[in-house]
Amino acid sequence: MTSIAILGGTGHQGSGLARRFAATGARVLVGSRDPDRARTVVAAWNAPIGMIDVASYADAIDQGEVIVIAVPFSSVDGLLDEIGRHDVAGKVAIDVTVPVSFTESRARAIALVGLLPELRAVDVGPLSRARSIEQLTLLAIAINRRHKVRDARYCIVGLPTRPA
Ligand SMILES: NC(=O)c1ccc[n+]([C@@H]2O[C@H](COP(=O)([O-])OP(=O)(O)OC[C@H]3O[C@@H](n4cnc5c(N)ncnc54)[C@H](OP(=O)(O)O)[C@@H]3O)[C@@H](O)[C@H]2O)c1
Repeated sequence: MTSIAILGGTGHQGSGLARRFAATGARVLVGSRDPDRARTVVAAWNAPIGMIDVASYADAIDQGEVIVIAVPFSSVDGLLDEIGRHDVAGKVAIDVTVPVSFTESRARAIALVGLLPELRAVDVGPLSRARSIEQLTLLAIAINRRHKVRDARYCIVGLPTRPA
């Protein structure tokens, strides 16, 4: 069972990831500056019992096989310093806002996305494509607002079922 530490797991991005990964059967650790407060937040999610634990950032870093960074941009540097103080050999750390470009880490990130039902990671090439993706994100938000829905999203068709 994959163990996924989500630093900032009580926040906007982190809470969505925590709940979705827990629903796949993965063990999720919500890392928080204030685990007691985070326990109250997590209890309100009605997530599968036992699939989500709460920990300090330090404990989440130690226990997670994959470390997801989902904190405000201004606090990422400090958190990377904290991660660097731990023994993280063999682990992969993924910031939710940063494209994964190292080959091995990319493979693990793709596998992680593959855990989520109906989602599939699509390699779109170099970092410069991020500009287009950002625009697609804005368009998706606009479509959702215009149609008063919350989960209108894109589907890429025409690719082989598994990457070549
Ligand atoms: N929200 C969006 O719609 C959105 C969209 C695109 C990109 N992003 C990017 O995604 C990243 C995460 O954004 P978010 O909106 O999910 O963040 P957020 O909800 O504002 O914060 C996430 C969590 O980080 C922890 N945190 C807050 N301040 C911190 C600090 N100074 N040091 C360490 N931890 C701190 C808090 O958890 P605890 O209090 O439990 O420690 C908080 O729940 C950011 O880089 C953001 O720019 C967000």
